[in-house]
Amino acid sequence: MIRVLFVCLGNICRSPMAEGVFRNLVEEEDLAGQFEIESVGTGSWHVGEPPHRGTQQELQIRGIDLSGKRARQVTRDDVATADYVIAMDQSNLRNLRRYDADSDLAEKAHLLLDFAAGANARDVPDPYYENNFGRVYELVEDGCRGLLDHIRDAEDL
Ligand code: 4NP
Repeated sequence: MIRVLFVCLGNICRSPMAEGVFRNLVEEEDLAGQFEIESVGTGSWHVGEPPHRGTQQELQIRGIDLSGKRARQVTRDDVATADYVIAMDQSNLRNLRRYDADSDLAEKAHLLLDFAAGANARDVPDPYYENNFGRVYELVEDGCRGLLDHIRDAEDL
């Protein structure tokens, strides 16, 4: 199993969106049996909440249902067991360091937009404050497509 962990701050906007998009891509390519896909936040404010309605709307337009998802905070075990830790922004990446029990985070952590073909930014902007869920969706999908290409190459899938 290839374990992919998407990380943002609250786990209600960006990383659940990436979880839904990436799982959908993996299913479309008949690779669902090879992946475990999850998302978490570095903060605890929204633990137990469903994804933000802006995130759910963007996913629903594409037929992706993530209404059962509940936010949770990252644990050391999440980081230790993940093969790919995919952060939405550079601040998430810095916050993750304190969960790096095996000191291997640097080898397996990436920014989502480092895989995006069309993005000239490194950070997925935070729609919680900017309410730009449509733009965020485009960036997330671009990054997720590039990420899946990268993993297929790296893992020979
Ligand atoms: P997310 O967005 O990290 O994409 O889930 C946020 C959600 C909540 C907060 C910040 C960002 N907050 O400060 O409560």
